[in-house]
Amino acid sequence: MHVLVTAGPTREPIDPVRFISNRSSGKMGYAVAAAFAARGHEVVLVSGPVALAAPAGVSRVQVQTADEMLAAVSARLEWCGALVMAAAVADWRPRRAAAAKLKKAAMPVALELEAAPDILRALAERKGGRVFVGFAAETGDPLPEARRKLREKKLDLIVANDVSRAGSGFEADTNKVTLLPAGGAPIDLPLMSKRGVAERIAEWVLDRAAGASAAAAET
Ligand code: CTP
Repeated sequence: MHVLVTAGPTREPIDPVRFISNRSSGKMGYAVAAAFAARGHEVVLVSGPVALAAPAGVSRVQVQTADEMLAAVSARLEWCGALVMAAAVADWRPRRAAAAKLKKAAMPVALELEAAPDILRALAERKGGRVFVGFAAETGDPLPEARRKLREKKLDLIVANDVSRAGSGFEADTNKVTLLPAGGAPIDLPLMSKRGVAERIAEWVLDRAAGASAAAAET
């Protein structure tokens, strides 16, 4: 299978030395890419800036901004059979990035923001028979928001996690997630390594893709 995975944060420039970003370490997305590659699938990993080496057998495309991530994913969408969006894409960005460093004495009292592109929403129309997986990182019970995002972003599966829990979310090596399939019962996983979570996601995607091709062969 051809699998497109995104990981890490994006950086939205304020000026040439400053940016808006978030705490994503990329560990979850890199683990997903490694899990598919270890099973012999072809993986392209579109990654924001993180301190991780590309996993063995994975081809990596490095990007900085939400616009660059959208362009890199969009260009490879036809190629892939599954898209796993583990990246923490910026929701907002400065309306204008200054061309030169803003000086301390000239502090702006506020930064004017605008929405960055929502990559999953932008690509939903071109989904076709591809398997789309998203993540919902929330503080508190993630399930209500995860269900909303599953529906609104036309996903097949969303991985819900409460990033305020110990051992979960940003920077941790472990995660405690619930897999929410569209039209299926939630799968509550115990606290486990991010690689363990990644294996479960890969298994789910491969089962779904195999089920879809078996159904197509019958008709
Ligand atoms: N996502 C995306 N483009 C964005 C923001 C998020 O494609 N600009 C993807 C993420 O990669 C993730 C899913 O959408 O797989 C949910 O991301 P999240 O940040 O939780 O959702 P938002 O739509 O940003 O919703 P909110 O800020 O209301 O929580």
